Amino acid sequence: MDKVLARGSGSAVARSRPRTAVLSMLAGVAMVATTVAVATGASAGTTLGASAAEKGRYFGTAVAANKLSDATYVGILNREFNMVTPENEMKWDATEPSQGQFNYANADRIVSHAQANGMRVRGHALAWHSQQPGWAQNLSGTALRQAMVNHITQVATHYKGKIYAWDVVNEAFADSGGGRRDSNLQRTGNDWIEVAFRTARAADPAAKLCYNDYNTDNWTWEKTQAVYNMVKDFKARGVPIDCVGLQSHFNSGSPYPGNYRTTLQNFAALGVDVQITELDIEGSGTTQATTYGNVVKDCLAVSRCTGITVWGIRDTDSWRASGTPLLFDGNGNKKPAYTAVLDTLNAGGTTPPPTTPTSTPPTSNPPTTPPPSGNGCTASFTTNQWQGGFVTTVRVTAGAAPLNGWAVALTLPAGASLVNTWNAQPSGTSGGLTFRNVAYNGQVGAGGSTEFGFQGVGTAPSGTPTCTAG
Ligand code: G3I
Repeated sequence: MDKVLARGSGSAVARSRPRTAVLSMLAGVAMVATTVAVATGASAGTTLGASAAEKGRYFGTAVAANKLSDATYVGILNREFNMVTPENEMKWDATEPSQGQFNYANADRIVSHAQANGMRVRGHALAWHSQQPGWAQNLSGTALRQAMVNHITQVATHYKGKIYAWDVVNEAFADSGGGRRDSNLQRTGNDWIEVAFRTARAADPAAKLCYNDYNTDNWTWEKTQAVYNMVKDFKARGVPIDCVGLQSHFNSGSPYPGNYRTTLQNFAALGVDVQITELDIEGSGTTQATTYGNVVKDCLAVSRCTGITVWGIRDTDSWRASGTPLLFDGNGNKKPAYTAVLDTLNAGGTTPPPTTPTSTPPTSNPPTTPPPSGNGCTASFTTNQWQGGFVTTVRVTAGAAPLNGWAVALTLPAGASLVNTWNAQPSGTSGGLTFRNVAYNGQVGAGGSTEFGFQGVGTAPSGTPTCTAG
């Protein structure tokens, strides 16, 4: 990635936006904000993943396959994170080094590690001008377009059912000028991005499909506006896009902007999720910690900001190690930035409280089903069903006492089976199933909640799941 930054030139774009359009957009944002219903339970997670899960979000990291034999690295990974992004292993040069010859060995290692430890995976990246294999760099026109379509189809099919979200297209916009970046892919025709998204949807309909870029954090920058306008156009024309990834590599040349939350809100108001996909913040001590805390607060304030991924674990793992931009030092010790992130997650940020209070005072007409008491818990779920498959997200809520472990029982209809589970351990793949907590999310404070999910083929479960504490 080119870290030479173009700043300020986007202000003209912002100034030229019609005032009415801005006002109606802000009204949309306000509506989104009032519907935020993030749990503000009393529990305080002790790891990044657990705390984020209590807020209905994930906390992830980039992972390098060659570090999976480093015990300190893996110890932190397994303890703290519930989403992983292969740092280089799913890129075009890694997965298709020769045309039509696919190599998934290193990416598979990361996916297997994630699945074995109850973590989800962000796929990165299907189509990008950079890190292309030499043979693709030498293609153009129809041959390159066909190679791109085949690459996306093959890779997304190989990982079908195992990817939470794909960065379908990465870094396709120019740093200045508000237009597309020139590249061999761009020269195949302006429709290459939407072709990439439609191809990915056909190969893996369950994966969320994201557009991912850097220097799209400051709302006034013209690159941000350009990406915003593309996403708006895609939504209007039915091009399948589910999310926008803001890489968020912050440093003195590209500082955390005061309007970051506005950017998140405005993208979310288009009807897409927003994800912070490659966060790192150069610096140290209190200054760095404060900025990390602000980024987390901003994500928590936007209901469709579904998670945060940092671009590496220890400072020494970073692609920009000299900037010490991560949450753990080279020895794996927690930095002040780590504490700021965890404390902000546990505090719940500035998310507006739910419009319906979570604890209503007792009335003279008690509900027929008494609320959980003692060490009880309840579970409820939401489902996204499509032809042939589904994703179900289950929320586990503690009763009057903290939970030290939980199990949720539900039944899959005949013919349905599990493909993938995150943040829980299932007892089987079909019929009556019990999902137990994993190491990092068994402890839930009184009245607090956590989430897990699963993907399956066939018809999603219905009815009310049962939750058992312990
Ligand atoms: O594995 C080889 C090694 O065998 C060789 O000795 C060494 C010599 O330089 O290179 C190693 O490969 C490097 C690879 O990282 C693995 O460490 C490449 O040279 C290096 O270019 C590559 O850098 C990656 C960079 O993308 C390339 O564009 C970084 O690790 C990776 O963190 C970075 O990630 C990108 C995101 O994908 C997109 N957004 C920006 C972000 C940061 O640039």
